[in-house]
Amino acid sequence: MATPTHDAAMLVSKAGRLSIQKLPTQSPGPNEILIDVKSIALNPVDYYMRDSGFLLQDYPAIPGSDIAGTIAAVGADVPQSSRGTLLRSGTRVAAYAVSIYTQGKPSYGAFQTKVLVPADNVTPLPDTISFNQGASLPMAVVTAWSGITTLDLSYDTKINTTTTTTKKGLLVWGAASSIGLATVQIASKTLGLTVYAVASPRHAEYLQSLGAAAVFDYHGAPASVVTQIITAARAANVSLDLAFHATGDLQSAQEVIAAFTSDGADKGIVATAVPMDASSPMTEGVDTRFILPPPVEQGLRDRHFAFVFARWLCPALDSGAFIPAPETHSVPAGLRGLDVALDRLREGVSALKLVVEL
Ligand SMILES: NC(=O)c1ccc[n+]([C@@H]2O[C@H](COP(=O)([O-])OP(=O)(O)OC[C@H]3O[C@@H](n4cnc5c(N)ncnc54)[C@H](OP(=O)(O)O)[C@@H]3O)[C@@H](O)[C@H]2O)c1
Repeated sequence: MATPTHDAAMLVSKAGRLSIQKLPTQSPGPNEILIDVKSIALNPVDYYMRDSGFLLQDYPAIPGSDIAGTIAAVGADVPQSSRGTLLRSGTRVAAYAVSIYTQGKPSYGAFQTKVLVPADNVTPLPDTISFNQGASLPMAVVTAWSGITTLDLSYDTKINTTTTTTKKGLLVWGAASSIGLATVQIASKTLGLTVYAVASPRHAEYLQSLGAAAVFDYHGAPASVVTQIITAARAANVSLDLAFHATGDLQSAQEVIAAFTSDGADKGIVATAVPMDASSPMTEGVDTRFILPPPVEQGLRDRHFAFVFARWLCPALDSGAFIPAPETHSVPAGLRGLDVALDRLREGVSALKLVVEL
């Protein structure tokens, strides 16, 4: 019998455009699932990979992390009844494809109609969640939880604000980004932190509906934005000694945290999603840490993915404790639309997730 094939958008050499080609469809190995992809969501790392070869090793390579679709085939040893739903052919799922861990190895990148993923990276989707919404989830929720653990908070953190007069706060800078919106929701609704968000004012109501206690506009003079946040937090008895920095002015985020450190808190922590280098700002009294993607070591990585996808995400979607955010926008033409969609993402989006539908 002829080997089945499927369409893939691949990079045939470093820093080029994507080329649509046929690839042989691999069967899933042990603990792997083959996904029939219906929607691909885009992230900044995708155009870094395309445009500069970031994290890629050999060519052809296939980038991409975020997918939703249906299960096409299940490998050996996959737990059949985890997450309250059977992981079997036809189950609707969202999944985190592992191109960044396989250096773009073709079978594992998101930009194709059939993708192999580790079973731990898959979560069933409730019927109320569309494939486009599902595809918007994996990178955002994985990074939000990586940020939470980078801040030395455990998966089981549950802040009980009724027993303390000072509320434990989290500053989320760049809160209208995909990872910011996920963090706002997880921090407020799952962990019980009081979230102060920094974003454009047009997103204030949206952020508050997702759990932010207060929203601050980052467009003013940095010193004035910092003062506004500190003043408001002190007035509300919120201790802001932790920050999740998704994007924007890292130094201002550090200055807010430093103010609460000098109020007597332990050394504050800023977890930043943006890679740091020698020119990155540092502020006394603040420990600034890069949010590493889930660790490369297989055991630690599997534990993180298993927590996010098997334990937390599916029930959170089912109960409404987590709402897919931001809104998605579908760029036409399927795999052929990926280059245009990546160009558009590189120009910048505002509380919007670009997807392509297959
Ligand atoms: N470390 C990791 O593992 C990891 C994982 C994923 C992503 N990342 C990185 O995290 C960053 C965010 O990714 P994403 O996909 O969430 O981004 P995104 O959704 O494309 O971010 C767009 C948002 O950025 C906000 N923004 C732009 N400039 C800002 C500024 N000066 N201050 C505050 N907000 C600003 C905008 O907010 P307004 O609309 O409010 O203006 C916009 O809504 C990227 O640098 C990405 O590479 C890192």
